[in-house]
This record gives sequence, structure tokens and C-alpha cells, in this order.
Amino acid sequence: MAGLGHWGKNLVRNFDELADLRRLCDLAPELREAFARRYPNARMCDDFGELLEDADVDAIVIATPVPTHYVLAKQALEAGKHVFVEKPPAMRGEEMEELVAIAEDRDLTLMPGHLLLYHPGVRTMKELVDSGALGDVLCVYGNRQNLGIIRKDENALWSLGVHDLSVILYLLGEEPSEAWAHGNSFLTPGVEDVVFCYLRFPSGKIAHMHLSWLDPHKMRKITVVGRDKMVVFDDMELERKVTVYEKGPWQPAQTYGEWQTRTGDIYSPKIPNDEPLRLECEHFLSLVRGDGDRSRVARDGAAVVRALEQLQSSLAAVAA
Ligand SMILES: NC(=O)c1ccc[n+]([C@@H]2O[C@H](COP(=O)([O-])OP(=O)(O)OC[C@H]3O[C@@H](n4cnc5c(N)ncnc54)[C@H](O)[C@@H]3O)[C@@H](O)[C@H]2O)c1
Repeated sequence: MAGLGHWGKNLVRNFDELADLRRLCDLAPELREAFARRYPNARMCDDFGELLEDADVDAIVIATPVPTHYVLAKQALEAGKHVFVEKPPAMRGEEMEELVAIAEDRDLTLMPGHLLLYHPGVRTMKELVDSGALGDVLCVYGNRQNLGIIRKDENALWSLGVHDLSVILYLLGEEPSEAWAHGNSFLTPGVEDVVFCYLRFPSGKIAHMHLSWLDPHKMRKITVVGRDKMVVFDDMELERKVTVYEKGPWQPAQTYGEWQTRTGDIYSPKIPNDEPLRLECEHFLSLVRGDGDRSRVARDGAAVVRALEQLQSSLAAVAA
């Protein structure tokens, strides 16, 4: 496991409980000391190369800063290790394709850390979409806003948008044919802190994302509008994570083609309380063991990077 920072510590806790945690690696001496006390059975190092050389290490988890992901993941795959790498595994579509190809070539798992895909609330939304309960899905939009954390080496699109994008692609099961982003860097030059995105899909569905760390609202919300029903996943809610609205447009025969609106029940299905990160770690370990489709997670991750890259190039073109 490499990268023992804010997020890495959560991964360490889970993998220590679920697997044989052999080695921990970080550049920061104070983190190595703290983790050595807490996880005495794991060997500590500051050199990623030591993980690669250890024949007893089957899989490597990477939770280092985003710009390092591609290089470290590539080294790990080339050393024959299964890889779980925090999102996004690469900052360019071409680099991601290369990682996917190495993993497929060697039959290794390359799993990007798309945490929300393991959220029981998102899974419930997916069931509602796939079962046809919402009717035809028309549009999806995500709100991911908060005042802070203000990052310097990733913009709001890459830091926040990656979550919504992974969910939008998962729910719709298609890749965008058009992707536009507009935003601005109000605080750190060149790092957009407010970004609005528009996506259009081959089926005609459309999506929007509002991503910002300059906002009075703390929002973690995804809304799916179907022709028959609408559903909202709100991760800020403690109990009502998913709300289904039996609302929609309809054309009564007597109104001769005029649209009217219909409102019915509003209800919240019960969502299991399982920790998404635990489910995500368990899924990675099951893929490492050979259960399930290894290449699927890598290919889905590549679709997210491709869409991010499309949005980023539109953002850069508008800013230029
Ligand atoms: N899935 C999620 O919800 C979620 C949430 C937060 C962060 N993340 C992701 O987790 C990753 C880490 O974020 P963070 O907030 O923990 O960052 P952080 O800066 O707190 O931690 C990164 C750690 O990596 C270490 N590091 C850097 N280069 C290294 C190398 N070559 N070898 C070993 N260690 C190295 C640093 O010393 C640091 O301790 C990022 O990719 C971020 O996008 C994911």
C-alpha cells in the first residue's frame, strides 16, 4: 500500500481487516512512524520499488497524489502486481489505455477507486434505472459543491467531477458523444475552482454537473429524471439517501396532445448501511482472487478518463 495520507489511512484500515497487509509505503517519515506503531505486522518503507520487488506482494494499493498515479500504477502492473489505484488512475486517456492494455495483457486487475459505484444508494438508483421503474431516462445531473477543500494540483473537474462522472456513465451505460465544460480559476491561477459541465449521449440523454469549492451549499447530490418517475441520491442525508418522486409529464386523451403534470407519492427506499469503501475493497480482493470480470473495472475507468479529458480540453479551449 502506497500513500498513507488523508484518504490512504481509510484504505489501510480496510485492507488490514480484509487481507494480509504486508507493506506500507510513504515519503513522509512522520506518517511511517505513526503507521508502524499502529500496524506492527506491516513492513514500512519510503521506496515504492521495494513493494515491486517483494515476491510476497500480490497486489498494490495506490493512494498517492493524482499526478503520480499513472507512473506508479504502470510500474506495479509491469512488476506483475494487481493494482487498486485511487481516482483517476491517469490524467490522459492515452495513458489510461496503456494501463488497461498492460493489465489485460497480463491478466491483472486494474481497479480505479470509484467509491460511489459501491454506495448502496447509487446501486439502488441503478436498479431503478435498469428495471425501467423510472420510465425512459431523459437527463441526469450532479451537484458537488462545498466551501473547500481548495486544492492546488487538481481542478474541481478532476477532483470532484470524477465522482459524478463515474456515476453518470454507470447509470446511463453509454459514453458521451459531446462534452463541454465552462469554469474559472478564481483562487489559484490555472486551477478551475468552479466548473459547469454539459454532456450529451448517443441515445439523446443529457447530463450536467456543477462542481465547485466556492459555494455556500455543501451538496453531494445526483438527480435522475425519468419520463415516469424521478429519483434523487443525496449523500448529505443521513437516512433518506434516495428519494423517489412519482412525478412526471403526461398527456390525457381529452386534452388533445397538451402536456400536463402528474404528482404521486414521494418515498425513500431502505438503503443498506454498508460502508461503500469496505464494499469497494472487498470487490478489489475478489477480482484479485479471480472472481468476476477483471477487465470490466479497468475499461469502465478508461471511459471516465476519456470523458474527463474531453471536458478538460473544452475547459482549456474556452479559457484560452
Ligand atoms: N475515493 C475518494 O472518495 C477519495 C477521497 C479523498 C482522496 N482520494 C484520492 O486519494 C488520493 C490521495 O489523496 P489524499 O487526500 O490522501 O492525499 P494526501 O496528500 O493526504 O496523501 C498522499 C500521500 O502520498 C504520499 N506519497 C506521495 N508520493 C509518494 C510515492 N511516490 N510513494 C509513496 N508515497 C507517496 C505523500 O507523502 C502523502 O502522505 C488522491 O488520488 C485522491 O484523489 C479519494
